[in-house]
Amino acid sequence: MDKKIKILILPGDGVGPEVTSEAKKVINTISDIYKLNIETDYGLFGGVAVDKFDNPFPDETKNKIIESDAVLLGAVGGKKYDNLSKEKKPESGLLALRKQLNLFINIRPIISFSELSNSSSIKSEYIDNLDIVIIRELVSGLYFGEPRGFKDDNTEAFNTMRYNVSEISRISDYAFKLANNRGKKLCSVDKANVLEVSQLWRATVNKLSEKYKDVELSHMYVDNAAMQLVQNPKQFDVVVTENLFGDILSDIASVLTGSIGMLPSASLNENNFGVYEPIHGSAPDIVDQNIVNPIATILSVAMMFQHTFDRLDIYNHILRSVKLVLKEGKYTKDISVNKDYISTEEMGNYIVEKLKGGTSE
Ligand code: IPM
Ligand code: MN
Repeated sequence: MDKKIKILILPGDGVGPEVTSEAKKVINTISDIYKLNIETDYGLFGGVAVDKFDNPFPDETKNKIIESDAVLLGAVGGKKYDNLSKEKKPESGLLALRKQLNLFINIRPIISFSELSNSSSIKSEYIDNLDIVIIRELVSGLYFGEPRGFKDDNTEAFNTMRYNVSEISRISDYAFKLANNRGKKLCSVDKANVLEVSQLWRATVNKLSEKYKDVELSHMYVDNAAMQLVQNPKQFDVVVTENLFGDILSDIASVLTGSIGMLPSASLNENNFGVYEPIHGSAPDIVDQNIVNPIATILSVAMMFQHTFDRLDIYNHILRSVKLVLKEGKYTKDISVNKDYISTEEMGNYIVEKLKGGTSE
């Protein structure tokens, strides 16, 4: 393939630089093996961008994103930035990036690794061969609804959960299509017993289901869904839900995989342009100790090849290489069951070694 592929890396804050640097090794290795003409570039985003430009999402970074084919993001945020005004918070940069690129589809696969069944606090019989996908709506809902703010005297604050039919339809349509190509089960999660937004959500999803006769649709209230996810996770195939509900449910679901350090994500717009990032945060408590698990970010690279570059073969190659390393009992601290663990860098290097070992089973 001669066409140049441009991947922009935004390491961000906290453990972001450590995990993206391991992921970069994987990108380089894949580029060599498959003779892809991949060029990587770096940009400032989050707290590090606030330090330099007084803005978490500066124009320089915006322009680099526009010129890239896909973006790999580490993590944003940290104590140092917690008391900044709202526009300057690293998290606001992340939300602005999602909104401006219209990344309304957030894909969070919850795949259990049999090699890690002892790392989860859930009994292995409930999570063996688990394969769920949470589809989280990412650019509307409670995160973005207006009006929002504090009353002048700071004695009251308010947010608004708001969706229109077209926003609900486009994310549900994605989820139905995905379910149709997988286990043919879709669970739409809402709080329709209390919220009008959820009643509209449910009615819209029901209407759409007429188009997808082969997909078995169910609805679940979000509180029950949280419980069912840990009590009987295998009942789920694809889950679709509102922005905040999806944020919370995906953290809960990470327990099933043994560690939040294992979970990748993709955020896509209608053109399959994507920002790929681990679902974990900047983890300030473990920064610069070379102990953070880079697998979530490396699997995010795998998702990049799957979704933006349409290379399921490369996705599988990366996933298989991760599994091979785990099979050999090599674990980072977060997934280690005894006291032995390997470093962030070692994990990256072992995965690269397995990648080089071969492209087929
Ligand atoms: C996530 C994160 C973000 C979110 C934060 C960092 C703004 O928790 O991607 O899940 O709430 O969406
Ligand atoms: Mn979150």
